[in-house]
Amino acid sequence: MNTEKDILILGIESSCDDTSASVIKNGYLLSNSIAGQKVHEEYGGVVPELASRAHQQNIIPVVDIAIKKAGIQNSDITAVAFTRGPGLLGSLLVGTSFAKGFSLAQNIPMMEVNHLQAHVLAHFIREYNEDFDPPRFPFLCLLVSGGNSQIILVKDYLDMEVIGQTIDDAAGEAFDKCAKVMGLPYPGGPYVDKYAKEGNAGAFKFAKPRIANLDYSFSGLKTSFLYFLRDRLKENENFIEENIPDLCASLQKTIIDILLDKLVKASKETGIKDIAVAGGVSANSGLRQALTDEARRRKWKLHIPKFAFTTDNAAMIAITGYYKYLRGEFVGQDAVPFARMDIRE
Ligand code: KG4
Repeated sequence: MNTEKDILILGIESSCDDTSASVIKNGYLLSNSIAGQKVHEEYGGVVPELASRAHQQNIIPVVDIAIKKAGIQNSDITAVAFTRGPGLLGSLLVGTSFAKGFSLAQNIPMMEVNHLQAHVLAHFIREYNEDFDPPRFPFLCLLVSGGNSQIILVKDYLDMEVIGQTIDDAAGEAFDKCAKVMGLPYPGGPYVDKYAKEGNAGAFKFAKPRIANLDYSFSGLKTSFLYFLRDRLKENENFIEENIPDLCASLQKTIIDILLDKLVKASKETGIKDIAVAGGVSANSGLRQALTDEARRRKWKLHIPKFAFTTDNAAMIAITGYYKYLRGEFVGQDAVPFARMDIRE
């Protein structure tokens, strides 16, 4: 039963290649449905044109499923939140347009959500009958995905500052691009993770960047990996097939070392020991283990989200929308998505 005082937020996410819808009631998750897009696999990366078409096909069924799973009707929704950006413009337009139509049809307010803020606020998705121990402000969040590698100082729900970020590739891109060179399917991150479990992380050494501040760089690693393989393949054309586990384990360790090095530095500089991780790469088992070890060593309070909330999902859009709703931060029908956005926008 929903009363008039209940706040039910419908969240819509369509920034890249996942179409997702979620319903959150008074901050508690009722449903989170996602349709992935297999169409990109054969291209080795997301094809924007195909992504927007797939969103167009998926959006209505995905929302229907989310509403049904939540056990509610369209008319029960209090407000609708959608991803404004950053992301692929054609993909964002599908979610934005859907939200506008839904808002008009139901005569309810609309909130635009910054996808990066939403990844961070995924830590505040509450589930019925589960313990809830979210990070306390201020905390640091390592946001690692296919498009971002950032250390974020989170001062409040909607008050965040990037204190370190990649100057070139993201950590997810490093995983995916190196995996592609090894002939692994796209996206390669999960495959590297899988093979790394059977490999020796000390087998090979790859270049690590030397940057003084809290920024990251992963393009040098990608080049170093590529040249290393090119040289070894000259000596042995089966080098990759014969060494996949060791290659994956060594690559993964290098990426994790780079990520943790700056995170430790950020914690020391700010004195903050509440540490969270977010984004697709936080699904990596090696990274989770390394963070857990580091947390024990440095007495951090570590927050790792559930797997379902690390990759793109609408529950994180709905929870961010919920906090915007509470603050009365609404947008009108003239709202437009943006491909590029800073975490503060
Ligand atoms: O946040 P996310 O779902 O979306 C975008 O940024 O678009 O992150 C996707 C990234 C991809 O680069 C993927 O390879 C990486 O997350 N990823 C992983 C793992 N699972 C997903 N990387 C390493 N290990 C994993 N287990």
